[in-house]
Amino acid sequence: MKGMLRRAVASLPRPARAAESETGLLERILSSSQPPPRHVAIIMDGNGRWAERRGLPRSVGHRSGVAAVKRVVMAADEAKIEALTLFAFSVENWGRPKREISAIMRLLYETTKRELRELADNNVRVITTGDVDALPTTRREAVLESIERTRHNTGLVLNLALNYSGRAEILGAVRQIAGKVQDGSLRLEDIDEAVFTRHLQTNGLPDPDLLIRTSGEWRLSNFLLWQTSYTELYITDTLWPDFSRADLFEAVLEYQSRERRFGRVVKSRPS
Ligand code: FPP
Repeated sequence: MKGMLRRAVASLPRPARAAESETGLLERILSSSQPPPRHVAIIMDGNGRWAERRGLPRSVGHRSGVAAVKRVVMAADEAKIEALTLFAFSVENWGRPKREISAIMRLLYETTKRELRELADNNVRVITTGDVDALPTTRREAVLESIERTRHNTGLVLNLALNYSGRAEILGAVRQIAGKVQDGSLRLEDIDEAVFTRHLQTNGLPDPDLLIRTSGEWRLSNFLLWQTSYTELYITDTLWPDFSRADLFEAVLEYQSRERRFGRVVKSRPS
């Protein structure tokens, strides 16, 4: 009943809220008794609709999406987030029109080339998740160069999910593990969650604490299926190209206000 009431109230039109300054939001994050999320994952949805609503080609939406990527990378670093995973291209995205795929790949190339120095100067370490080997050669090389040039950086880890599929990732882990059992290097009884996690492409990253999806869609879209078991979800109607520094800070503050129970009961509450 409580939940129904909360949902009903949440669906009421909100009174205009005086926008709190970005600095104010950031200060609240950093002074909170709850730590910020260590790992934030984002499904950057709504580029196409953003462009279509303006009568522009979808590729323009993706280009504006890159500007949002830059804002959010810097804001994540300011909010003391350790790792940021961005769903930049899914395995399923190959089914889009050829022109749109080329536009996204070109943007990926231009952005990794152009922003590399700034990322490196800001101590950002670029890594990837997904089958990067299957990307077109020049696009793949630009991504590999940014991984190589930032590998010793110690600041924000920027994980680009490229040609990524959560199910394919899980199958890959199963295949590796089965191979090890077959050749005798791993015993069946030693397979546990920790072993499985080490065979995923995200090996080394903590599970995402917070998953943000823009554009009001309530789906996981084959993203980090194993890793998001206990991730807090944050869905916003804002389309990705409009997602601002303040939007990220608000999502983080919302996360800090949540009680994470991981399936357990919190003792201080009356039963
Ligand atoms: C989803 O919007 C967005 C994508 C499939 C591509 C995201 C790519 C970028 C932001 C550019 C490259 C990224 C980096 C990291 C440099 P959509 O097209 O599905 O939007 P729609 O749902 O409104 O159609």
